[in-house]
Amino acid sequence: MPRISHVRETLCGDESIGYTLGRMHAPQIYDRIGIGYHATRRPDPRIAAAILDALGSAQTVVNIGAGAGSYEPADRRVIAVEPSATMIRQWPFGSAPAVQASAMDLPFADSSFQAAMAVLTIHHWPERDRGLAEMRRVSGRSVILTWEPAPTPFWLTTDYFPEILEHDRKIFSPWFREPALRSTVRTIPIPHDCVDGFLCAYWRRPQAYLDPMVRRGISSFARIADIEMGLSQLRKDLADGTWHCRNAGLLDQKEVDFGYRLIVLE
Ligand SMILES: C[S@@+](CC[C@H](N)C(=O)[O-])C[C@H]1O[C@@H](n2cnc3c(N)ncnc32)[C@H](O)[C@@H]1O
Repeated sequence: MPRISHVRETLCGDESIGYTLGRMHAPQIYDRIGIGYHATRRPDPRIAAAILDALGSAQTVVNIGAGAGSYEPADRRVIAVEPSATMIRQWPFGSAPAVQASAMDLPFADSSFQAAMAVLTIHHWPERDRGLAEMRRVSGRSVILTWEPAPTPFWLTTDYFPEILEHDRKIFSPWFREPALRSTVRTIPIPHDCVDGFLCAYWRRPQAYLDPMVRRGISSFARIADIEMGLSQLRKDLADGTWHCRNAGLLDQKEVDFGYRLIVLE
């Protein structure tokens, strides 16, 4: 396990918040949208248990695209990698040491960690395959939470924000099903009371999407130039019962498969 002082290409840091600066690439969208992220993006215990299980017995872990530090196992030695200073500043006291760097260019020697984890982040990486190669270079096991085109269409994107659907269709392919990768893929159904406020988390709590704080924690909304049309339609459909009529089949479900997948590469 490298100590922070062994980080390659360290340039400078901000000692007041305890992070080290590695090599940076593109400007970070989360510097703009990440303020307040910690309020709505807390780890869901069911997803956390699945991630812990996937990490197996690994004692040294690098958390790439760590955001505000969600899902880091408390009983392992963890180093977090996050390009956005806004996100790093939201870390609770006592979190893992952080390196400000990109997944594209991890500032660690080969095989520094027993495992690497990347939770809901690879869709932000400018070159997914390069980031995956970096994860595999620095660790023995890669644990990735991402998603593939959903078996269950999500009403928020089909009925109100088709731009999100269109964008996600372009960037999400089931790359991890390539046989040569020999990946293990586990379905992560989304519970109706999911604690972590990502895109599909509120599938049975539609009012939540009307809350600007909730939308702020979901990067898909940041890409929509004018969200008012979709929001006013949702408001109207909730008020006159249209939403409930259309989605009656969801209301008694406890969890739904919206395409979220936990992948292990060894
Ligand atoms: C949706 S958040 C997920 C954060 C955290 N893993 C979680 O589960 O809450 C996506 C994170 O990926 C980070 N990210 C964006 N581009 C990245 C890159 N090139 N390398 C590593 N992380 C990146 C963002 O700054 C952001 O913190």
